[in-house]
Amino acid sequence: MDFEIVNGDVASCETECLVVGIEADGQLSPSAQALDTAAQGYISDIVGGGDIQGKTAETLLLQKVPGVSARRVLLVGLGASDERNDRNYRKIVKSAMGAIKGVRTESAVFSLDGLGSNDDDQYRQLRHLIEWAGAELYIYDETKSKKADPLALNKLAILLSEDDTELGEYALLDGVALINGISTARDLGNLPGNICTPTYLAEQAIALAAEHEALETTILDEDEMRQLGMHSLLSVGNGSDQPSKLIVMHYKGGSEEDKNHVLVGKGITFDTGGISLKPGASMDEMKFDMCGAASVFGAMTALCEMNLELNVVGIVAAAENMPSGRATKPGDIVTTMSGQTVEILNTDAEGRLVLCDALTYAERFEPETVVDVATLTGACIVALGHQATGLLSNDDTLANDLLEAGNQAADKAWRLPLWDEYQEQLDSNFADIANIGGPPAGTITAACFLSRFTKSYRWAHLDIAGVAWNSKGKEKGATGRCVPLLTQHLMNLAAED
Ligand code: BES
Ligand code: MN
Ligand code: ZN
Repeated sequence: MDFEIVNGDVASCETECLVVGIEADGQLSPSAQALDTAAQGYISDIVGGGDIQGKTAETLLLQKVPGVSARRVLLVGLGASDERNDRNYRKIVKSAMGAIKGVRTESAVFSLDGLGSNDDDQYRQLRHLIEWAGAELYIYDETKSKKADPLALNKLAILLSEDDTELGEYALLDGVALINGISTARDLGNLPGNICTPTYLAEQAIALAAEHEALETTILDEDEMRQLGMHSLLSVGNGSDQPSKLIVMHYKGGSEEDKNHVLVGKGITFDTGGISLKPGASMDEMKFDMCGAASVFGAMTALCEMNLELNVVGIVAAAENMPSGRATKPGDIVTTMSGQTVEILNTDAEGRLVLCDALTYAERFEPETVVDVATLTGACIVALGHQATGLLSNDDTLANDLLEAGNQAADKAWRLPLWDEYQEQLDSNFADIANIGGPPAGTITAACFLSRFTKSYRWAHLDIAGVAWNSKGKEKGATGRCVPLLTQHLMNLAAED
């Protein structure tokens, strides 16, 4: 897909489909007004007739509007000005893209006059338009024998005034990098567990490094991890025929003195629960248990494409959690790389077992900050639903920076407490820590577990169990969250220095 910024008069814009807004109560947006003038009242007549009222995301497709160069004009409802928020803006983009795809046009131009969202930040509005239009173009057909028909649409443009063009170009470049990062994450998430194994993820990291000069990938195999004492991570893969991998992607876009920011992703390529076997219903969705890893891949992809001046290490702890005669059993005790021992009371609480060793490994990069991302707890879905990522942190500044990045990127997170009061739920009679803290506050006790391994640096944990994929119908599949949040955070860090 070609994304472009175009200039000029809206009535003479050459495209197969020109998208302009209608505000609440049928009020014409400036672009719709300009078309109406060129068309001598044709549009106001139709709108006056009540065919479109301007409600959020309503659409009406017009053909061959007199005096207008575009082949089609798509009117899209923008709603009342006090309804123009990220959520409604995304609905507007989604519904316009639905109409555009429906008529199989090869090109489309959006001219929304900066009215999509109340946010007066043009950059953000334009980037979201690109990002969300891109998301509507995403197709997964990797494992279908019949590939999706190639999309007729090959050019998508935004009409801007000359004054806004430079800003628009930046928004476009960032938006495209984000689309690529998000699509990478969605593809990896959607692939089934028999294809997307730890070895497959390792190969993807090697391939990514081959594409980008500034990226270097190292893969640690099981022997190397054993030598480092990562017995907790290794215990998760014990029951699997697929070897576990620790994937390290080092992006060196900053100067040598710049400290590293580390991202750590949970890469359980399939989570059966292990000996603490999960119930059968919806177990297929546990192929998405590597979506934390996928969002690290996505953010690394976007980061490379944006050439951010920053040093970032992406670490993926990849394993498959299976039951077998060699699998870890409830009650087993393992020694982590940090030296702390863990009593594994439930083999289904495996995410924290792989993450803790990856977090200890992160110490060698002397990180400025460490952010881990994981589909860690079902309890996070109970607490926050499918709207917000759960955020827990040992550092208020980092936590606030991530919350802010989430708001900017329309990929929201919400903070939960990480008070010492919760730590005692992890007491064990037989080891230093138990791997589960019982039913109350499951998301918090999971983060408490991780906090035992992150004492030497500023750290935040993102629980994406509720947001990483959709479960229902045609929407079933990976969402690519929280690539936007992570990437925005890295962009903000790069802008600071
Ligand atoms: N991958 C799951 C968490 C999960 C479950 C994410 C459902 C999204 C949807 C994780 O490994 C897990 O099984 N967690 C357990 C922890 C419990 C045993 C303390 C859970 O949430 O039930
Ligand atoms: Mn589990
Ligand atoms: Zn899991």
